[in-house]
Amino acid sequence: MPVVTCIEDLREIARKRVARAIFDYVDRGSYAEYTLRANRADLESLALRQRVGVDVDKRSTRTTMAGHDVAMPVALAPVGLTGLNWADGEILAARAAQRFGVPYTLSTMSICSIEDVAGGVDKPFWFQLYVMRDRGFSASLIERAKKAGCSALVLTLDLQIQGQRHRDLKNGLAVPPKLTAATVLDVLFKPSWAFNVLQSKRKSFGNLEGRIPDAKSLTTLSQWIAGQFDPTLSWKDVEWVKKLWGGKLILKGILDPEDAKAAVQAGADAIVVSNHGGRQLDGAISSIRALPEIVDAVKGQIEVWLDGGIRSGQDVLRALALGASATMIGRAYAYGLGAFGEKGVALALELIEKELDVTLALCGLRDVKDASPAILRA
Ligand SMILES: Cc1cc2nc3c(=O)[nH]c(=O)nc-3n(C[C@H](O)[C@H](O)[C@H](O)COP(=O)(O)O)c2cc1C
Repeated sequence: MPVVTCIEDLREIARKRVARAIFDYVDRGSYAEYTLRANRADLESLALRQRVGVDVDKRSTRTTMAGHDVAMPVALAPVGLTGLNWADGEILAARAAQRFGVPYTLSTMSICSIEDVAGGVDKPFWFQLYVMRDRGFSASLIERAKKAGCSALVLTLDLQIQGQRHRDLKNGLAVPPKLTAATVLDVLFKPSWAFNVLQSKRKSFGNLEGRIPDAKSLTTLSQWIAGQFDPTLSWKDVEWVKKLWGGKLILKGILDPEDAKAAVQAGADAIVVSNHGGRQLDGAISSIRALPEIVDAVKGQIEVWLDGGIRSGQDVLRALALGASATMIGRAYAYGLGAFGEKGVALALELIEKELDVTLALCGLRDVKDASPAILRA
């Protein structure tokens, strides 16, 4: 195994191992990718404040997220098609998260179903819901998540309509993956991926079996999403979901203080300040730039988390400094999975935790819960 020292190393290994259409699906963003780049650039522009002369011997990265004890303030975000990076990827990622002591969120658009993942882990995981026009089907997903013992529901609000990802169209991304004249050469150079994923029994949308005709290409998939995902999704529906679910509710995709206030009114337990990792509204501000105003608007009434562009423990600490109580990571763990399967997800988490721990100390802190704007330089 090569020496892996950072998430970028995992990205590079995944790029070489995973079929191009799948790697690009993970890696890229919508339209001109302005927001995708802004997420990274705005995090990197935040300078941390080095402090010395402080005893930083005993440190802790432990905290809580929506009432769950976590080893560090990082949860695995919902990532569609995870199981096309590595066979049974959702089960493997959930296991790695469980061993590490952080939450795993299963996407509605996953390859392994809710039941598959429940059978593969022995602690509760979280389920992410997309609301479909067919409310009976949405209700059945909520019921299945309850039955599987999921301990929180993450309701995603920013994909009621899909932003275009140019790369997916150009690559002809299909689910299940299809070998075509255009992709066969690429796959010939990715034998480890091909043996692992193409031979796996799970290659389509596990939660939607029987609902979605095999998406021969992304155009068909986008059309299906356009036909099924509900563009009328409103705060009234959030109320409906909350009632049906009855447990911890996390609202994901909040980027505006007014929407954050509405989320408080709707009775959410936490919100995720997010622009879907730069995959939806291109031209939207970065999530880290949106964060301080949202923290102000929420006034400590509910937890505020952030995702988008987090690739290191330093990034996690930057988000905590600006008022998030925790973060979620998408690509950082998906690269790990694409590179080395379950071990790669574990490695991604270890890298981030070590970086977070050392960075905390070099900023003169012992506990992640003490992060504040005071650890940033103007
Ligand atoms: C490949 C991929 C698939 C995603 N699929 C979903 C999804 O099914 N549901 C969802 O709510 N968010 C989805 N997201 C968004 C992530 O949950 C998260 O908001 C985003 O990845 C955070 O940015 P980061 O990748 O820079 O960490 C996806 C992100 C990626 C990269």
